[in-house]
Amino acid sequence: MSSVLPQRFEETNKNLVTLINLPKILIVYQTSYGSTFQYAKWINEFFTDADLFQLNDFDQSSICNYDIVIIGGSTKRGRLTTESFIKKHAKILESKYVFVFATGIIPWKGKYRKDAYLRIPLHIRSSIQYIKLPGRVDPDKLTLLDKVYLMFNGIYEYDQMDKQFVKPIINYVHSIRDQHSKKD
Ligand SMILES: Cc1cc2nc3c(=O)[nH]c(=O)nc-3n(C[C@H](O)[C@H](O)[C@H](O)COP(=O)(O)O)c2cc1C
Repeated sequence: MSSVLPQRFEETNKNLVTLINLPKILIVYQTSYGSTFQYAKWINEFFTDADLFQLNDFDQSSICNYDIVIIGGSTKRGRLTTESFIKKHAKILESKYVFVFATGIIPWKGKYRKDAYLRIPLHIRSSIQYIKLPGRVDPDKLTLLDKVYLMFNGIYEYDQMDKQFVKPIINYVHSIRDQHSKKD
């Protein structure tokens, strides 16, 4: 992706002025049991100007309004819950700074160990940042089907969540914003 961020312009009555805006951040997430939402909220605490949406509530046509797109989902049966969203918007995401994070069990010993990441097509993978963050399994909250699936994979309970794990995402966004402010 280009290292030059788009500039935004605004017509006033007399002049065309350059708005020195910070790159706009979108945080969009998909969650079943809340852990991905928790990480999204922790990221949002560092960038309170970011827009935070649950994927189902997000007006996908507005994705072009953002410069930095953070996409959070969980790993389920070797797939990212955001996989189809990423594939659907692959073209537009090429022109954005994109950080995908996936919650899950680390290390996942099940059959589909690296599949979730590898299912993102190579041309997309190579131009985005990606991280897997340790999530949470609360047996009291799981649906019966999910519980059985996890038990089958030897997982009964898991919680390794920590706010510090969002640091690489925070550092990345700061570096993009710093780069942008130096250019203006
Ligand atoms: C049905 C099911 C399948 C899962 N499959 C995987 C998997 O393939 N790999 C993995 O690392 N974690 C897997 N997990 C663990 C979840 O990714 C983890 O619990 C995550 O924190 C859930 O996110 P959420 O709370 O936002 O829904 C699975 C969990 C469930 C319930």
